[in-house]
Amino acid sequence: MSLSRVRYIDIPRVEDPRGNLAYIQDHSTPFPIKRVYYLYDVPGGATRGGHAHVECESIIIALNGSFDVSLQDGHNHKTFHLNRAFTGLYLPTMLWRELENFSSGSVCLVLASTLYDESEYIRDYEEFIKQTRSE
Ligand code: TYD
Repeated sequence: MSLSRVRYIDIPRVEDPRGNLAYIQDHSTPFPIKRVYYLYDVPGGATRGGHAHVECESIIIALNGSFDVSLQDGHNHKTFHLNRAFTGLYLPTMLWRELENFSSGSVCLVLASTLYDESEYIRDYEEFIKQTRSE
């Protein structure tokens, strides 16, 4: 089941009194990265996500600030908290995701395994539950 495959990923970093540096490079992620996007200027109380992906795997990183990632695989539910620029959360496919409780000034970076393709989204929760329960 998808939720059991979710895990935190330590991003290698170089600490320096002048400011820390973290890096992500090919072969250090569970999938080759095809796309990068980020959420910023998220207003207080907003919820992002509200969908699942059939094809796309992701790594989510709180580049600044903090937020919660609530996940449901059709059988179980779990919420993960992200608050460090050197910790990623790996999400396989077929997880209903909601991102919420953004702190002020949060930036949410997402590394994705596919190009943007609306046809691989499931945006209807009932449809998602139907598909996961028939697996
Ligand atoms: P969506 O994936 O629903 O955002 P989130 O999950 O963060 O709440 O995308 C919101 C809008 O942005 C939607 O119209 C699709 C568009 N979009 C792109 O054009 N390219 C992208 O890479 C992404 C992630 C979204």
